[in-house]
Amino acid sequence: MNIRCLSLQLRGKQFLPSLLSLLTICGLLVYVKLGYITESDMQIHSSSQTIHRYNIDCSAIYDMDPVEVGKALKIRKQNLVEIKDENLTYLASNCTLYTKYRGYDDVCVTEEEKDFPIAYSLVVHKSAWMVERLIKSLYSPSNIYCIHYDQKSSAEFISAMEGLAQCLPNVFIASKRETVYYASISRLKADLNCLSDLLRSEVKWKYVINLCGQDFPLKSNMELVSELKKLNGRNMLETSRPTATKKQRFTFHHELNDASFDYQKVPVKTWKTKTSPPHGIEVFSGNAYFVLSRDFIEHLDKSAVVKDFLAWSEDTYSPDEHFWATLVRLPGIPGEVPRSEPDITDLMSKTRLVKWQYLEGNLYPPCTGMHVRSVCIYGTAEMNWLLNYGHWFANKFDPKVDPVVIQCLEEKLKEKQKSFQSVAPCHKG
Ligand SMILES: *[C@@H]1O[C@H](CO)[C@@H](O)[C@H](O)[C@H]1NC(C)=O
Ligand SMILES: *[C@@H]1O[C@H](CO)[C@@H](O)[C@H](O)[C@H]1NC(C)=O
Repeated sequence: MNIRCLSLQLRGKQFLPSLLSLLTICGLLVYVKLGYITESDMQIHSSSQTIHRYNIDCSAIYDMDPVEVGKALKIRKQNLVEIKDENLTYLASNCTLYTKYRGYDDVCVTEEEKDFPIAYSLVVHKSAWMVERLIKSLYSPSNIYCIHYDQKSSAEFISAMEGLAQCLPNVFIASKRETVYYASISRLKADLNCLSDLLRSEVKWKYVINLCGQDFPLKSNMELVSELKKLNGRNMLETSRPTATKKQRFTFHHELNDASFDYQKVPVKTWKTKTSPPHGIEVFSGNAYFVLSRDFIEHLDKSAVVKDFLAWSEDTYSPDEHFWATLVRLPGIPGEVPRSEPDITDLMSKTRLVKWQYLEGNLYPPCTGMHVRSVCIYGTAEMNWLLNYGHWFANKFDPKVDPVVIQCLEEKLKEKQKSFQSVAPCHKG
């Protein structure tokens, strides 16, 4: 049973397959209840267990072959159904099977990777399989991954994340979790909770990178290691002088109010002006995503100035979009960007490639996927552009909008990782 036939059943056109699938689901439920799965079950149900692989030639997609891109467009027109979070929980209920099935037991590490562990802070709230694929694409046994799930995530999503943490020794759940509200301090605190756990982990990582569930890497672990080495202790993130509009986000007191949309609460501006930032801090603005050195994070952890600045940021709008950008400009901080230095925009910093609708055609080619609140969800025809732009990660991806671009990025990254590793001795585990 594949995704395509499932979607047909959902439209109620085929009775027999839906009866069969009902029986399958019932059968699987029994297995879940009994709490075990074996390899032979996996073979029987393998097509419903796995992430659906489309029959697409990704090198042709990369080369912008019109026929292959056309095929991908056709796939997009199908009724795409996301694999359920429960499936991951089910698969991860047998770790031996899960790690083998997803190829984690096959990942090897070079000396270079071993000597340069990377930490990840993943702030996620839905789509368990996308989180899994994100981790898989960046996976190295030498790295460490912290998952912060939202306190208001579904029980199914939470169990899937716990399953991952149980099966992969270097993946763990943040010890303190927030209920994350859009644009509020809770988003920032989610990252801070992971950072604090990561500092206390046994892995002596050199850099930390934060990710969300709709991000995907554009570089393999080997490439990231070599890029991070080139940073030579510097931090990489957007940090610009705020515009007058942006300044309102932190010059006025904001209150967390109930919102009409799905995020439930949102900070709303009041006319109460805030005091100026503590310790004469000059506020810079940027985005939520960073590549930060261990020295920088260790400094934050001990700094009273940083603590005061965090407290001051509580009632601002989207503090994650000024917190990091400001701290990296603090005089004397490890990897400091001096305040006198010019703006570093999101295109100059290679952290996250985000395509804004109003800049398309001007700064970059148009989106070939779909827009959500002015941000592009990438499509297949952007694969080549994404991989060659120079950024390390991109946002946003959605398997319901374009599953092929994700599949092809996975393939390309695996290929790149293999070719880099082929020139150095590589050891499993
Ligand atoms: C997990 O899967 C392995 C490999 O198929 C199988 O040998 C083992 O019995 C399973 N474990 C449990 C607890 O079912
Ligand atoms: C896996 O997901 C598919 C599609 O959502 C579903 O039909 C199938 O029953 C699931 N299998 C399990 C074991 O949850």
